[in-house]
Amino acid sequence: MLLQVLGTAAGGGIPQWNCACPGCLGARAHPGRRRRHASIAIRAAQARWFVVNATPDIADQIEDSAALRPGPGPRETPLAGVVLTDAELDHTLGMARLREAQGFDVFAAPAVRDALITRLRLGEVLGPYTGVAWRELPRTRSVPLTENGSIEISGIKVSGKRPRYAADAEPHEVSDDTWVVALRISDRETGTAALYAPAMAAWPEEFDAAAREADCVIVDGTFWDDEEPRRTGISRRTATGMGHLPIEGPAGTADRLAKLGARHRLYTHLNNTNPLVDPDAPQHRALAERGIEVADDGMVIEL
Ligand code: MLT
Ligand code: MN
Ligand code: ZN
Repeated sequence: MLLQVLGTAAGGGIPQWNCACPGCLGARAHPGRRRRHASIAIRAAQARWFVVNATPDIADQIEDSAALRPGPGPRETPLAGVVLTDAELDHTLGMARLREAQGFDVFAAPAVRDALITRLRLGEVLGPYTGVAWRELPRTRSVPLTENGSIEISGIKVSGKRPRYAADAEPHEVSDDTWVVALRISDRETGTAALYAPAMAAWPEEFDAAAREADCVIVDGTFWDDEEPRRTGISRRTATGMGHLPIEGPAGTADRLAKLGARHRLYTHLNNTNPLVDPDAPQHRALAERGIEVADDGMVIEL
């Protein structure tokens, strides 16, 4: 299995266009600290890749990854489709940038697909430009990403948090309330597995069981601690109130990650207020001592 990290920032990116917080200022002064919106690419088969979440940066993310660039034919692209973990804007707006495609697959949970079709009207908007093939991302079984490859995916529910634009969605509009999943990626050929969960409101037993079996676990690192959004003035809610388990503290995910045997244990989806956006922050050492790292844009993971 081959995974390519395309971005590691929460909504807004680092730097965020309207933000002059220390994290964003640091990224403007030191280009190496810039982070694009969180996304990974999965190689499903020879020259057939799927991106997990379509971010507003998707075109630049493709351009910066040799394996995702088009060719040899003039309009030949290795990008076969998108897998969505949720319906949040930072994970879905990039679909509009794929309108030049001849067509692409989108794997999503039913509530996510319905929100994109009935609220963002992405089906109607993209229809005149390209063919979007909606495919179900199931929870109780795995589905192959492509017919000829060995990679399979499934979702594990980690949150019922709806995007703000669908906060008032009637229950009849959604077939179930699985709004956010952790993506389980497995390779039948190598027997390896990875979990990708850029947003987690909870760490359910089903997720823990899958994490214990996984070779690579990449999780929500939006906020360092629960008070960070209030302390930095970006929100009146705590991290958990915003649907993101913090890294440290009683509800923190670092304790859970540290207990796993996975070779790769990584954080992604960093908010620009997170102290980890500064590579010299002591918090990096604290994590490293527990075998945990922060994912970086461009990182390649082979399992
Ligand atoms: C989130 O991760 O909680 C969302 O992307 C928030 C947002 O940017 O609206
Ligand atoms: Mn987000
Ligand atoms: Zn900022």
